[in-house]
Amino acid sequence: MHKIFDQAAGIRKMRQINPKPVRVIAVTSGKGGVGKTNLSVNLGVALAQMGKRVALLDADMGLANVDILLGLSPEFNLSHVLAGDKTLNDIMLNGPAGLRVIPASSGIQQMSELSTIEQAGIIRAFSEIDQNLDVLIVDTAAGISSSVVNFARACQEIIVVVCDEPTSLTDAYAYIKLLNRDYGLSKFHIVTNMVQSVQQGQQLFTKLTKVTDRYLDVSLSYTGAVPFDEYLRKSVQKQKPVVEIFPRSKAAIALKNLALKIDSWPIKIQAGGYLEFFVERIIQYSVHEDVA
Ligand SMILES: Nc1ncnc2c1ncn2[C@@H]1O[C@H](COP(=O)(O)OP(=O)(O)OP(=O)(O)O)[C@@H](O)[C@H]1O
Ligand SMILES: [Mg+2]
Repeated sequence: MHKIFDQAAGIRKMRQINPKPVRVIAVTSGKGGVGKTNLSVNLGVALAQMGKRVALLDADMGLANVDILLGLSPEFNLSHVLAGDKTLNDIMLNGPAGLRVIPASSGIQQMSELSTIEQAGIIRAFSEIDQNLDVLIVDTAAGISSSVVNFARACQEIIVVVCDEPTSLTDAYAYIKLLNRDYGLSKFHIVTNMVQSVQQGQQLFTKLTKVTDRYLDVSLSYTGAVPFDEYLRKSVQKQKPVVEIFPRSKAAIALKNLALKIDSWPIKIQAGGYLEFFVERIIQYSVHEDVA
């Protein structure tokens, strides 16, 4: 375990000479089907349209939905990088507005099985792309399985998506509780999705904070709402992000506003500010799990 950090120490030193923080954001929810992948893809494209250099990591092991939403057919994924057949740059696909997509799906599962040297290799692969990146968005799977939780823990910022269904709220609460009680995380961003009005989004947020304020020591901040919009559904069918094909739809405007807000978050310069730390942590957490 310590060896990983020894090997990564050199890379970290390099970073210290030329520090450039990459914002690493997890998009999570607890409940499935609340709009995580659509939010990830559209925020990615909207940030890219604003001139940011953005990559989107598809960390949903079961269903590689990012590819589908963008109409991409990746031939290779992270598993090929891990096997040494491809570089990270080889597997990245180009999405709209220059968004870079990292098809990870099956590769992610194998990270915990790597030898120390392979781990250092993958960390290096990520550290190389971080020089050309401002934001990494991590689209996670639904549920509160350890692999989902590990992704969230490895990111600097966590967005929890909720919609107006009792199960969405209870699952979001359970998820926040788990991250707080078991892993000490205390700051969460909330996005409400498929809302009928701005007020409904705000009310949902208030409902959630009432419970978290009462039972947990966490701080939730409201990033904003995305309305229910038929144009978003149409965009899914067309396999194009709504911000690209229906840029004036209600959903697209809301999503672009969310991207502006996210871009205004202060960048945390800390021991988690760079991409290799993200990958290190993913490996570290999954190795610990195997041992446990
Ligand atoms: N704002 C919206 N307006 C209308 N429909 C929406 C909106 N957001 C999401 N949807 C619908 O919900 C479906 C599920 O969205 P998405 O796949 O992004 O959810 P998810 O949380 O990533 O799901 P999973 O948990 O399975 O990964 C989409 O196909 C779309 O039809
Ligand atoms: Mg999804």
